[in-house]
Amino acid sequence: MPGLIPQAFIDDLLSRTDIVDVVASRINLKKSGKNYSGLCPFHKEKSPSFSVEPDKQFYYCFGCGAGGNAIGFVMNYENLDFPQAIDSIARSMGLEVPRDESPVSRHQREKSTSLYEVLEKAATFYQTQLRQHPDKSRAIAYLKGRQLSGEIARDFGLGYAPAGWDTLLTTLGGNEASKKLLLDSGLLIENKENSQRPLYDRFRDRIMYPIRDSRGRVIAFGGRVLGDDKPKYLNSPETAVFHKSEQLYGLYEARQKVRNLERIVIVEGYMDVIALAQHGIHYAVATLGTATSSLHLQKLFKLVPEVVFCFDGDAAGRKAAWRALEHAIPLMTDGHQARFLFLPEGEDPDSHVRKVGAQTFVTHIRQATGLAAFFFETLSQQTDMSTLEGRARLGSLAMPLIRELPQGIFRQLILDQLAQLTGADRESLEAMMAQTASDRGRNVGPPASDPTARLPDSRQTGRGSHTNPAIPPRHRKISPCMMAANLLLLKPDILGKLELSPELLEIDSPDIDILLKVIELARSKPSSNTYQLMGRVYGTPLGTQLTQVLNRECITPLDGISREFCDIIEHLLAQHRRSKAHAQLLEEARKKLSSRRRQPEGESGPE
Ligand code: UTP
Ligand code: MN
Repeated sequence: MPGLIPQAFIDDLLSRTDIVDVVASRINLKKSGKNYSGLCPFHKEKSPSFSVEPDKQFYYCFGCGAGGNAIGFVMNYENLDFPQAIDSIARSMGLEVPRDESPVSRHQREKSTSLYEVLEKAATFYQTQLRQHPDKSRAIAYLKGRQLSGEIARDFGLGYAPAGWDTLLTTLGGNEASKKLLLDSGLLIENKENSQRPLYDRFRDRIMYPIRDSRGRVIAFGGRVLGDDKPKYLNSPETAVFHKSEQLYGLYEARQKVRNLERIVIVEGYMDVIALAQHGIHYAVATLGTATSSLHLQKLFKLVPEVVFCFDGDAAGRKAAWRALEHAIPLMTDGHQARFLFLPEGEDPDSHVRKVGAQTFVTHIRQATGLAAFFFETLSQQTDMSTLEGRARLGSLAMPLIRELPQGIFRQLILDQLAQLTGADRESLEAMMAQTASDRGRNVGPPASDPTARLPDSRQTGRGSHTNPAIPPRHRKISPCMMAANLLLLKPDILGKLELSPELLEIDSPDIDILLKVIELARSKPSSNTYQLMGRVYGTPLGTQLTQVLNRECITPLDGISREFCDIIEHLLAQHRRSKAHAQLLEEARKKLSSRRRQPEGESGPE
């Protein structure tokens, strides 16, 4: 765990860096006035709306809203985290990044070191028990029953946790400090209520599978019962060194075994990984009882260009596969491949490879369904492709996901295929793409890494967590003025044909000032488009406000914007007139009342 990068270094690095150099070394920039512009690398566009401002040492895209400083640009462009981006910039300047270690992080590092040590000792202990314990024959018989060789058991460091409450405790927990470490590493369980046995072994009478991190350090264990008891598998809890959702079982072993990994197969279980290895397929990994996350996939695509998901062919398996597809889509840059292998119902890779043999299994892996095929196959099944409506629906289901595909040939091919399937032409699909992109609103930050910013259509798919936001954007509280301002920004030319009542100026409604400013802005330069308008206020407080307005999701189709804008204005005016009339009535009533009481004004109440 490296220490923190000192802030002074970051400041110094930024002061020595020119954002123009940083950006220009990665994309084409043209000077325009005192700024530079180019095609935005974060979304697809034909005319440049990406601008770099040396004065502010800032970049901004009027098309997609991405913006930031030099470090932010490198982070987004190269898909790096903050320290990595600092490293990258420093390296290009021939600098070494110094590291501070705070007392806290030193303490954590030292603590982790001791945890790794105790976990390693435990792994060795369990392995020894598999060779020496009086009960070892039961454990060995179990492994043999699953047709595992001694070699594979050794490669995966398999062991045996003997029955009994305290075999590990008495062996490794000689003093208070070591007991504490065993507890912190998840190997012991604490029971304060039982004074006889306040601490006991977590894993008892189980086959032990050490879980190793990418450097081969044991960070946790899985333990399987020898028979049919429940729970079948017991896993280490989360600890300072074990974060289940980030780990892939078997990845270290795969990298040890295969020099140049070409692909990784993702399976569900420990035994699947091991059984495949037993059959010479050394490139399988398993998530640890969790669904495959985007983090897992990012990790894998750094190592290999191809990931094959292996699922049971039943409904649950297909559902899980679709979720995996959703995570994979944003990572499908050119050169990356994802495939889907569905096994016969009720089979897992372990049982299947034993049935069909390694060679056939490898063929299955090689011929697994490509992402595009699985994508269209699944979506087509949800629509009636023989009708026009059905094909249109396919388009609306596919579009939000396609939009998450990174720019590149693969995305083009998918769009081609969508055009073919729906009968729509490429141009109108592209236009729809651009349109949905602008409806979606502009998010400051890298668009590709923002899976929650979804298209309106995605709500219709009703699948997966991130395609189905809990509150549809439309139902979030947005003031009518804000909505109107948003619509007008998206299509400023609607103002041309409209006559707005001067009464608008009297309106007292939340955000009316913003709406009036947008109206003024759109009036001052008729025929400007959204980006030209934004460009004129960019960097001013109004610009910041308007960026927020644009960030609101808008689901009105382009040709309905004018209508909706007018409706909102009508609504605002009607409301205004009502409250004006209401105020008048009140005023009259008050006057009547006071004249009846014949009380002079000003004495009617306490001062
Ligand atoms: P499976 O039950 O499919 O595992 O669960 P498996 O590897 O096929 O098991 P056997 O040994 O062949 O019967 C898949 C994964 O789900 C997690 C484990 O990570 C397991 O490998 N799991 C399963 C648990 O954590 N606890 C359980 O009780 C069961
Ligand atoms: Mn199994």
